[in-house]
Amino acid sequence: MTLVAITGTPGTGKTSIAGELRSRGCTVVDLSQHIRDNGLRGDFDAERDTYEVDLDDLNDSLDMYRTDDVVYMEGHLSHFMDCSMIVVLRCHPDVLAQRLKSRGYSDAKVGENVQSEVLDVILCESTESDIPVYEVDCTGDDIAYCADAIQGIVSGDGEDRIPGSVDWSLEMDKWF
Ligand SMILES: Nc1ncnc2c1ncn2[C@@H]1O[C@H](COP(=O)(O)OP(=O)(O)OP(=O)(O)O)[C@@H](O)[C@H]1O
Ligand SMILES: [Mg+2]
Repeated sequence: MTLVAITGTPGTGKTSIAGELRSRGCTVVDLSQHIRDNGLRGDFDAERDTYEVDLDDLNDSLDMYRTDDVVYMEGHLSHFMDCSMIVVLRCHPDVLAQRLKSRGYSDAKVGENVQSEVLDVILCESTESDIPVYEVDCTGDDIAYCADAIQGIVSGDGEDRIPGSVDWSLEMDKWF
């Protein structure tokens, strides 16, 4: 099985890079759409502005993609699924703040997401299992470069992209 999770803080580029991978002929499951299509949406959580999802049900629903082929899945829950590897997309806090502001997010929502990026929240969640984890810095404008990096990891070329290869700790003071 080669099911590859593409995860990351909102705005790091999951959906953009998924589009690039699809244009290269790859199969990429959009987890939000998959959740809607398979009736896996639970109650609406107003505080978190998102629907609750039972992670075990979501995991079971992905069995059809656990084949010998390479299948990518993108979304902020993907790293909680049983998969072959996890790629965490990263983005420099200043650039991430700009991207989220231009989406119309409130200052509070921008700040919360940028803090989460600075603190490696998704990376830490990802490294809680034994599944291999990689990081790709998607700060630059080059979505093709990011897609190349992910395909490189899948072909065994991920040694420079292990956890810790991206480090925003010097940005901490600015955001806390
Ligand atoms: N590598 C990149 N270089 C420059 N801009 C990018 C890059 N990747 C994404 N963007 C821009 O950043 C914004 C956010 O990207 P995208 O929607 O792909 O993020 P996401 O991780 O899917 O977020 P969410 O978790 O909210 O779905 C978009 O406006 C996109 O054009
Ligand atoms: Mg997205």
